[in-house]
Amino acid sequence: MDLDVKIREYQEKDLERVLELVRELESELAKKFKDIQIKSGIEDYRDRYLKMGNKYKTLVAVVDNKVVGYLMGYPSLGAPEVDNMYDILPVSPKWITPEFFLQITFVSKPYRNQGISTKLHKEIIEYARQQGHKEVYACIAKWNTPEIKVISSLKFKLKDLGYRYRLTLKL
Ligand SMILES: CC(C)(COP(=O)(O)OP(=O)(O)OC[C@H]1O[C@@H](n2cnc3c(N)ncnc32)[C@H](O)[C@@H]1OP(=O)(O)O)[C@@H](O)C(=O)NCCC(=O)NCCS
Repeated sequence: MDLDVKIREYQEKDLERVLELVRELESELAKKFKDIQIKSGIEDYRDRYLKMGNKYKTLVAVVDNKVVGYLMGYPSLGAPEVDNMYDILPVSPKWITPEFFLQITFVSKPYRNQGISTKLHKEIIEYARQQGHKEVYACIAKWNTPEIKVISSLKFKLKDLGYRYRLTLKL
C-alpha cells in the first residue's frame, strides 16, 4: 500500500523535529566522509535557514503526523558566493529572481525509496512556477545517485561540471 505522505510548508512548531533530522543528516555525512570533521549546521538552521521571514523556503513531508523529511530552497541571484553569504529579501512584489535554487533535501532513512523526495520536489517546482521564477536548479555531487535519480526523473536537464552536475528545469 502507498504511504500516506502530506507535503506542507514548514511551520515554527516543526523546528525541533527538523533539527533532529539535521542531526541525522550530519551523522550520515560523518560516516560517509571519515577523514574530515564537519562543523554542525544546527545553529545556522536555527538562526538563519529556518528563521521565519528569511529567504529560505522549506517544505516538510509528514507521515502519521510526523515530519520525516524536508526540502529547502531559495530565490537565487545567480552568484553562488553572494547567495551563500547573504540573504536577499524582495522589497517589491514585482521583483523576482529568474532562478530558484534547490539547496538541500533530506528524508529520514526508514522512509526512503517511497517517493517522498520526488513529492517534495514536485511541490517546490509548483511553488517556484507560481512565484514566477524562470527556472529551478540544483547542484548535485556525482556520488549522490538517489538524488540525481529523483531530479532526473522530473525532467531536469543535466550538465556535467566535473565532480558534480548542474540540473536545470525551465519553468
Ligand atoms: C536523496 C534522498 C533525499 C532521496 O529521498 P527518497 O525519498 O528516498 O527519494 P525517492 O523515493 O523519491 O526516490 C529515490 C530514487 O533513488 C533510487 N535509489 C535509491 N538508492 C539508490 C542507490 N544506492 N543507487 C541508485 N538508485 C538509488 C530509488 O530507487 C528511487 O528511484 P525510483 O523512483 O526510480 O525507484 C535521500 O536518499 C536522502 O535524504 N539522502 C541523504 C541526504 C542527501 O544526500 N540529500 C541530497 C543532497 S542535497
